[in-house]
Amino acid sequence: MKMNIVFEKIISRRDDFPSLKQEINGYPLAYFDGPGGTQVPQSVIDAVSNYYYTSNANFHGNFITSQRTDEVLDGTREKIATFLGADGFKNISYGHNMTSLNFSLSRAFGNYLNPGDEVLITQLDHEANRGPWLALRENGIVVREVIVLPDGTLDYNDFESKINEKTRLVAMGYSSNVTGTINNVPLIRQMTYKVGALLLIDAVHYAPHFPLDVKALGVDFLLCSAYKFYGPHIGILYSNGENLNRLPTYNLRTQLQHAPFSIETGTLNHAAIAGVNAAIDYIESFGEGDSTRNKIVDAMEKINLYEDAICKDIFKKLNKIENLTIVGPTGKDAKKAPTISFDIKGIRPADICKYLGGKGICAWNGHFYGIRPTEIFGYIEKGGFTRVGVSVYNTIEEVDRLINAIKTITSGVQIN
Ligand SMILES: Cc1ncc(COP(=O)(O)O)c(C=O)c1O
Repeated sequence: MKMNIVFEKIISRRDDFPSLKQEINGYPLAYFDGPGGTQVPQSVIDAVSNYYYTSNANFHGNFITSQRTDEVLDGTREKIATFLGADGFKNISYGHNMTSLNFSLSRAFGNYLNPGDEVLITQLDHEANRGPWLALRENGIVVREVIVLPDGTLDYNDFESKINEKTRLVAMGYSSNVTGTINNVPLIRQMTYKVGALLLIDAVHYAPHFPLDVKALGVDFLLCSAYKFYGPHIGILYSNGENLNRLPTYNLRTQLQHAPFSIETGTLNHAAIAGVNAAIDYIESFGEGDSTRNKIVDAMEKINLYEDAICKDIFKKLNKIENLTIVGPTGKDAKKAPTISFDIKGIRPADICKYLGGKGICAWNGHFYGIRPTEIFGYIEKGGFTRVGVSVYNTIEEVDRLINAIKTITSGVQIN
């Protein structure tokens, strides 16, 4: 399909998002904080509210709303499995968010590993995929971190020198929510196979922008969050085969003790889970193909084409602005998620984002919980970065508004 047809089709869907019809100080809302969480289409809002109208109950009961709740929970697990390229139901667990699922995993690993065993993490990661593993040092487990280079990519030589026969787990991100860097997961998988280590991937920042195929990647665990791909605030864990069953997760004796349930404590957010199903249906509606999986993959490829083109336009325009520095891989062919973090010399990112916010342009400032990379790049004292991320609903007109506002800021106008 021609690029401009893809573009027209995607742009024509912007009205699906009711929140984007709001005006702030007379400006239409331009939402560039997809990396913090995307807006949701009407169909997701309807699915959440429909759950309360028709299906509200706890699960596994012998009455109609409980049976419907079972269908919502089971059906959404199957849909997520299709979205991730997983085998099905038993591989998909729910959580409050990615961070809590990862903490539950790390506590279980704490009881599974022995003192002296090693876990490898990276300097590029979000704190949600560092803190839970660093906590294992209390159990005598050695946690090493792979270096991030000044261009925002991982040092794969350092990786190779730190992975060894004692490494039991590599826990790393697929894409950085600060720089957009995409890590070479297939290469890391080869390294982990060689030493017999498990591989856990934080795909929170990758999943909204690229098709995922967990089986082809061969990962043991993969985490993502539906609120980054047009759904409600739900964390998702994919676990391969018997991996979750091997882990002594903390749970109640009343709880089902096997995958995918053994990591799910208490009552889940059923209405939000209904919304996750609708979010994946929404993504699928952008694609063509002879199966749900093929439609999802086609949709993600189209979404990626669109977002990448918008992101490159932002990059090109920001890159021409004096005193503005973009962090992370900047080469023309750099493979990255559509996320750009930048610094404007002498101006605090919080002030930049307050000014943008007043113009109806939503962008986030700070370290974005990617506190370690922000520290390594030397920007903590400067208040971190300003970050813009592209989602399916962003337009070229919004980019022009963003760039004009940034040019006003760099022109020396008093903004606070
Ligand atoms: C790369 C990355 N990993 C992990 C997380 C944490 O996800 P959650 O908010 O679901 O705990 C985020 C959230 O921004 C993220 O961007």
